[in-house]
Amino acid sequence: MNQVYESHHPLVQHKVTVLRQADTGVRRFQELVKELTMLLAYEALADLALVDASVTTPLDEAEGHLLTERVALVPILRAGLGMVDPIWDLIPHAQVGHIGLYRDEDTLQPVQYYSKLPSASQVDLCLLLDPMLATGGSAVAACNILKRWGIRRVKYIGLIAAPEGIARLHGAHPDVDIHIAAADCCLNDKGYIVPGLGDAGDRLFGTRMREASRIPEPKEEV
Ligand code: PRP
Ligand code: URA
Repeated sequence: MNQVYESHHPLVQHKVTVLRQADTGVRRFQELVKELTMLLAYEALADLALVDASVTTPLDEAEGHLLTERVALVPILRAGLGMVDPIWDLIPHAQVGHIGLYRDEDTLQPVQYYSKLPSASQVDLCLLLDPMLATGGSAVAACNILKRWGIRRVKYIGLIAAPEGIARLHGAHPDVDIHIAAADCCLNDKGYIVPGLGDAGDRLFGTRMREASRIPEPKEEV
């Protein structure tokens, strides 16, 4: 049975509040996504397995512990890309795979357009990265892809989730833990999380405003 972990850390609560603000610009949005991801990953990885190890310091032998689990990071394109680097900085030996999915704006169904994954036999734990868990269709589709590929252990790390998305991911993949910064109220009639933050991919990459979002069009700079 999976667990839903909503972080109550004051740093997370502060940063997700600034992230939501409509006037937070692209660069600050990118930084906040990275900072939040690092904080959530710190909590999500608290059960990583260790092996005892001795090392030689300049002064003596020291008994310590080293990571043994082979971790893979798999962002759902596009918005999940913004969450890779902060975890990769913490676990530089992680492999990174990619799943390309976009949500059809009319049907809200995920459409797959790309997949490149590490060999499942080399992965003990896969972190599935996507800031928004709205209807849950994309996260469920990505977990289906990972499991068909042979990956056995998956944790989802996101930033904002709607109850509908949590319930759908939980129902389809009860073994996948869900780590988020905030659980919001609901979805609007266009499938956007309310109050949410608008379209995560557009805000992260400075692309066009979508109808359901109140984020101003970025001004063209020459
Ligand atoms: C967003 C988001 C998720 C998906 C969530 O991506 O990053 O992948 O929507 O919605 P769901 O839970 O209802 O499936 P989007 O489809 O907008 O693609 P993009 O990142 O390429 O903009
Ligand atoms: N995708 C987003 O980027 N934002 C939402 O609120 C829902 C789906």
